[in-house]
Amino acid sequence: MRIALASDHAGYELKELIKLRLYDSGHEVVDFGTDNAERSVDYPDMGRPAAQAVVRGNCDRAVLICGTGIGMSIVANKITGVYAALCMDGLQAEYSRRHNNANVLVMAARLTGLLLAEEILNRWLETDFEGGRHARRVDKVEIG
Ligand code: RB5
Repeated sequence: MRIALASDHAGYELKELIKLRLYDSGHEVVDFGTDNAERSVDYPDMGRPAAQAVVRGNCDRAVLICGTGIGMSIVANKITGVYAALCMDGLQAEYSRRHNNANVLVMAARLTGLLLAEEILNRWLETDFEGGRHARRVDKVEIG
């Protein structure tokens, strides 16, 4: 897949690890920044264009990372067509795909260890949407 990737300064180190894991798994990565952990930046500046890349069809999915995951979640979910899920464990990651068809994964760098982050990423990437009654529910989100 072609994955859009973005973080603020708080998520930079985790973003770089995720980037390597995505490359290892054969994915293409489009990195929307930021490019260091020292300079404080504003998460919407990186998160919005990365999430927009998904609904515009330039990327298949996006992974967004900030300190708590909350800012990136709010930014992404204001974009029509984005279904962003802040996932703190593997089960949430799996079900955000199976039941919610989440096309954007958000992670909380300050609250998530590296091994757990890798598990979250892998389960989110490997799980398909179940459709059926869940498709009806997801459709209702757009007209809500
Ligand atoms: C940055 O300090 C922090 O506010 C940001 O990474 C994020 O947690 C916001 O929701």
